[in-house]
Amino acid sequence: MSALLEFHDVSVSYGSSPALVDVSLRVEEGHVVSLLGGNASGKSTTMKTALGLVRPVSGTVLYDGQDITRWSTPRRVRAGLASVPEARRVFPEMTVEDNLLMGAYTRRDRGIRRSLSDVYGLFPRLAERRRQRAGTMSGGEQQMLAFGRAIMSGPRLICMDEPTMGLAPIIVEQVLDHIAAINRELGVSVLLVEQNAELALQVAARGYVLRTGRLAVEGTAQELLAHPGVREAYLGQAVDSDRIDPLAAADRLDTLRADRTGAGVAENDGQAADDNGKEQA
Ligand SMILES: Nc1ncnc2c1ncn2[C@@H]1O[C@H](COP(=O)(O)OP(=O)(O)O)[C@@H](O)[C@H]1O
Ligand SMILES: [Mg+2]
Repeated sequence: MSALLEFHDVSVSYGSSPALVDVSLRVEEGHVVSLLGGNASGKSTTMKTALGLVRPVSGTVLYDGQDITRWSTPRRVRAGLASVPEARRVFPEMTVEDNLLMGAYTRRDRGIRRSLSDVYGLFPRLAERRRQRAGTMSGGEQQMLAFGRAIMSGPRLICMDEPTMGLAPIIVEQVLDHIAAINRELGVSVLLVEQNAELALQVAARGYVLRTGRLAVEGTAQELLAHPGVREAYLGQAVDSDRIDPLAAADRLDTLRADRTGAGVAENDGQAADDNGKEQA
């Protein structure tokens, strides 16, 4: 399978302080991939590098097999890269629909109307509220709007920076469903930044863990949930590494994903979880 987005040994510095060091990662077409890591580990910098908002000091960024390392952000957006920035950042004084149309600013094609109906089809709530000022909507609705605005650029890949941040648990569940729906219904790939591994891995088939600018772990959702370092850092569990049980991790994943059938979970990974589930039964 071809990678839609690839980082090869990407390093980024802010002045003299390194933020990313030799980071290599890939997002396959059609997949949801999660980028995990604690505060200040370089997650947002990775997203900004993908979007061309910061430039690597070394390494290359490929999109659809092309070297885009020197491309401007608008050129990347026209090519199909979109972002959902941290903290949503909708335009509060503008209506819902005008916010959505802002997402199509790089487009000259006739797909805008089509994308608007995609957005309203996925999020009927936005259609109901399209004349309402965005600032009057709830946090969960504003997150829908931020997703919708990204969809309006006609993307093949959306980079989402902590879309669940600051939302109540029940709304977080809805946001995860929305991410899965965007992936499944529109066939859009997603690079999902999250601090909470259990949340991210409900919708992501694979993930990477950053630690102070370097990739510490990568693997399938199941591998990450079973990994002692991931469990300790992200699930708050001190783990005796002799007692890691991949089958327990598979079970846990099945439980977490139970209500999320058809989520953007890759075929191969889903297969592994199924097999293990059967062995347990
Ligand atoms: N604009 C900036 N100028 C200087 N340092 C920055 C800037 N943005 C981020 N950093 C630093 O780079 C590191 C990684 O930050 P960031 O990518 O935002 O991490 P995360 O999203 O994982 O919290 C941190 O040490 C942060 O302080
Ligand atoms: Mg961040």
